[in-house]
Amino acid sequence: MLNMMNATQSTLTLALTKTDWLGLVYLFAAVLFYLGLKMLSKVTTARRGNLVSALGMLVAIAATFFQISGGEAVSLVWIVIAILIGGGAGLVLAVRVPMTGMPEMVALLNGCGGIASLLVACGDYLNKTGQTIEINGVVTHVDILSSAGWDVLLATGLATLIGGLTFTGSLVAYAKLAGSKFIPDAPVQFAGQKVLIGVLLLGSIALAGVLVAKPDAGYVLILVAAMSLILGVLLVIGIGGADMPVVIALLNSYSGIAAAMAGFVLNNSALIITGALVGASGIILTNIMCKAMNRSLMNVLFGGVGGAVAGGGKGPEGEARAFSIEDASIILDAARTVIIVPGYGMAVAQAQHAVKEFSQQLESRSIDVKYAIHPVAGRMPGHMNVLLAEADVPYEQLQDLEQINPQFEQCDVALVIGANDVTNPAARHDTASPIYGMPILDVDKARTVFVIKRSMNPGFAGIQNELYFKENTGMIFGDAKKVVSELSAELAAN
Ligand code: TAP
Repeated sequence: MLNMMNATQSTLTLALTKTDWLGLVYLFAAVLFYLGLKMLSKVTTARRGNLVSALGMLVAIAATFFQISGGEAVSLVWIVIAILIGGGAGLVLAVRVPMTGMPEMVALLNGCGGIASLLVACGDYLNKTGQTIEINGVVTHVDILSSAGWDVLLATGLATLIGGLTFTGSLVAYAKLAGSKFIPDAPVQFAGQKVLIGVLLLGSIALAGVLVAKPDAGYVLILVAAMSLILGVLLVIGIGGADMPVVIALLNSYSGIAAAMAGFVLNNSALIITGALVGASGIILTNIMCKAMNRSLMNVLFGGVGGAVAGGGKGPEGEARAFSIEDASIILDAARTVIIVPGYGMAVAQAQHAVKEFSQQLESRSIDVKYAIHPVAGRMPGHMNVLLAEADVPYEQLQDLEQINPQFEQCDVALVIGANDVTNPAARHDTASPIYGMPILDVDKARTVFVIKRSMNPGFAGIQNELYFKENTGMIFGDAKKVVSELSAELAAN
């Protein structure tokens, strides 16, 4: 029996070639990516998920080293230099970028992914077009392009197309988000833009098909690359800067699809699987964001909505009542239940730690505190969750829209901190409002509503908020961090 087992074992060891082992290690890396992604979907496991995914990347890189050290025609020195430059830049960015700058950083990273896929596809094509090698003093030209399968050629064309448009599209998105003076934040649209986009898109797909039919037509690949770079600019330039987070989720998905195509070109299973994971999760995220904003993807891409609106906005007339810190803290002190509603302004003010201290102050007075989290509060998915987790707010206190909305009617005070659109009751009834139909937090149903913001200026949607003119609403004007700290101090002094 033992002999038989030993024999089977040695047959198995012998049967697995280096390529098989490599495939298994890549598969293991892909499983780690999958597990990491799954863990990222919950705040409690997100940090571990990040580590698990990073471990997956380490395993994949180690496997690639192992593959190359086995005789591939690539110098390990170049790879080490590339890792040092890329890793160093990544480290500096990760340390320096503030949480509110995350969308810009993700845009840049998507762009890097896109151009990497384009370069891999074109580089591999060039590699296959012909190499001159010398065997025993005889110079021979080796051309393996003609033997490349149609699938590899199609993947080459598609990786170039999707990688190219992801690259320039992401750069435009970055410029818009970073407030570059060269690219306007507002949507740039012109007559015939959609037709031009359609022609370029269909044309480059057709050219990718030509490459399959005529593998040695290298100029076709150059054309696809050029058209894709123009396409990326045209697709994103027409979108308003504030809609960019949705576009970035979409570009993230494109960068994954481009990577998967590059994986087919290189016959690298880890790249195919991870590219597919990124592609699918990016599309799912895009869909979630569009739904939460009550917009279709077509409306985000071609509607020309989401440009910055300068002050004022249209909407309800009337006078909002301003409250002092002292008056507001008397009402807060008498409350039994308080629901905190954070929004983009809390992120801008970096008020999350002050908010946590404030809620501890309330809890020390036996006041029940909960946080209402709207799916698109802030400017990126999970923005409020990330900030509040950073301030160690207990996860159980965070309630999503469906959970918290029925609770506003029984709530003494709803404290809105830098949130605007996600609390605007017009979304429920005003069919002319650009946010009509967007699910909102029903803060107006609370007995008293306090809103902390600096002015009467509108938020992302550029419209005035009905909530500010309701009888049960009081405005506490000022920077969110300053006001919340002052409220804490006032409560502590009483
Ligand atoms: P907004 O409606 O954008 O309102 C934020 C408010 O914060 C502004 O009215 C601003 O008023 C205030 N504010 C800014 N800085 C502040 C500071 N330092 N202190 C106090 N207040 C400050 O934000 P929201 O309610 O979170 O809604 C998010 C919006 O973004 C939605 O329309 C959503 O559709 C859109 N959006 C979200 C996402 C994601 S994924 N989250 C993606 C794309 C678009 P003042 O200037 O008067 O202070």
